[in-house]
Amino acid sequence: MKEKQLENFFDVVTKRRSIRKYKDIEIPDEHIQTMLEAAQLAPSTNNSQPWRYVVVKEPETIKLLSLVAGRQKFIANAKAIIIAVANRAASCCPGNPSMWYVQDTMIATEHLVLAATALGYGSCWVAMLDSRNSQNIVAVKEALRIPEGADIVALVTLGVPDEVPSPRSTLELNEIGFSEAYGFSWSA
Ligand SMILES: Cc1cc2nc3c(=O)[nH]c(=O)nc-3n(C[C@H](O)[C@H](O)[C@H](O)COP(=O)(O)O)c2cc1C
Repeated sequence: MKEKQLENFFDVVTKRRSIRKYKDIEIPDEHIQTMLEAAQLAPSTNNSQPWRYVVVKEPETIKLLSLVAGRQKFIANAKAIIIAVANRAASCCPGNPSMWYVQDTMIATEHLVLAATALGYGSCWVAMLDSRNSQNIVAVKEALRIPEGADIVALVTLGVPDEVPSPRSTLELNEIGFSEAYGFSWSA
């Protein structure tokens, strides 16, 4: 890749949107590798790095994932899906109820998503694995050979964007930023 690596960080953050329509263009493995490298650099509790990623390009598996993820049809058209898995066994503190291993994995996954954006890909986080149907989860874990003690945290769909999403609303800075104490709006 590396041609787009120097893209300004704020340009990348601004450009990142959830993209649910993709062109029929394959994603080269080198680009997936760059996304994984970005995840590799994420912070984690005690540097435990509990994230694991299963890269799926096989159309049949992509179809299976689209069925179990709350039947969200766009998933079936992704050119690749990266399944973010939080490995409890690799957690810094097994048995700790804080679920840091899940938080670590989500941070690393956003690194991956921003790398995808920088490379010109569209992506969408999908957290809605249909948890009402545990059979579905079992089927996915079996298909992807995800071991006991490792939790699927999210799917990230990937592809060359074939849509420009309409602007989305964001909370005002004075609603999310506080100065010195909660509720005291930040202003510069
Ligand atoms: C943890 C998480 C789970 C999400 N799950 C889904 C999902 O299951 N399906 C979907 O279409 N979008 C999903 N999204 C995308 C959000 O809807 C999207 O980020 C939000 O509407 C803001 O739009 P933007 O990403 O374009 O800024 C998810 C996002 C996050 C962070």
